[in-house]
Amino acid sequence: MTENLEQRPARPMYSDRNLRRRNAVVLGAIAVVLGIMITLVSYSVTIYRLFCAATGYGGTTVRVAEDSSKQAARAITVRFDTSIVPGMPWRFVPAQKQVTIHLGEQALVYFDATNLADHAIVGHATYNVTPDVVGRYFKKIQCFCFTEERLGAHESVEMPVLFYVDPDMLNDRDANYIDTVTLAYTFFPSADPDAATDLTRFKVIPPAGAAASAERGHQLFVATCGGCHSFDHNAAGPSLAGIFGRPAAAAAGYDYSQALRAEHFSWSAARLDRWLADPQVAVPGAKMPIHVADERDRRDIIAYLRLVTEQSQAATGVTAIR
Ligand code: HEC
Repeated sequence: MTENLEQRPARPMYSDRNLRRRNAVVLGAIAVVLGIMITLVSYSVTIYRLFCAATGYGGTTVRVAEDSSKQAARAITVRFDTSIVPGMPWRFVPAQKQVTIHLGEQALVYFDATNLADHAIVGHATYNVTPDVVGRYFKKIQCFCFTEERLGAHESVEMPVLFYVDPDMLNDRDANYIDTVTLAYTFFPSADPDAATDLTRFKVIPPAGAAASAERGHQLFVATCGGCHSFDHNAAGPSLAGIFGRPAAAAAGYDYSQALRAEHFSWSAARLDRWLADPQVAVPGAKMPIHVADERDRRDIIAYLRLVTEQSQAATGVTAIR
């Protein structure tokens, strides 16, 4: 044994060093691959969060701020175009005509689709970007065009597309002069309706004249208000227990703004509507930092607040305002 160990150095020394070098190379490669994977994973989480934050806000957010270090100063205008193959009874329009963004900056845009037929229809979208050379720099992070989409009879939805234009475009001589591109979608009836997912996973637009929906209000409340409000304790915002008919600034133990504390009204549907449309206009100096721009969204949220108030009063047998 001892002899063996002593003899080894002469020949093995060289291959040992070789082996070490190879190990170092393999370890280095693993480290690089791991690094890339970790970067990808961490970005996908950020992007996913940004997307959720943006869509959770009742569709009012148009653009998502991005890490400015990856943005180029150059701006590009993206126009939107939609079409439907003849005979497909859908209405499909972009919610905005165009957006202007910096290269590398993410934009969240919406397309509205309505099924005009009396039966559900599964559609499949294809898209193209013109001029063609920009296509490879046009990166979609989230898009309804990835799947077969089912839309129920007379249903309407607002579909988000989150994208950015890669600043690498500036290094491409065939593309770097372009400042306007068009993103065009076409909807086809699906060839594979069984693989469909429901478009109602996106924000459903109630038909004109539809009654207020406390159920839709509930979803909006969870997405838009739930981060700050609950019905049984104060958080960033005051508890909204029994809010319907409750005097302004009456949640015990909550540190209200001077402005709201100075008010002497009770919360009615009309008061809530004005408050949600713009707290700072309804009560100058109030400190609630968000507003709900869409009238139908406010109406449904208020229907939900009324329902919760009624339910809690029925449950406790208390009909007086708490
Ligand atoms: C980012 C946090 C935040 C979000 C999100 C938020 N609120 Fe508020 N809300 C507040 C704060 C803070 C106040 C207290 C305002 C003040 O004191 O001026 C408040 C006050 C209120 C009040 C008055 C309560 C009282 O006791 O008089 C109502 C009603 C209300 N919010 C409803 C909502 C609804 C409905 C939503 C969702 C559409 C919402 N808020 C989203 C922070 C928030």
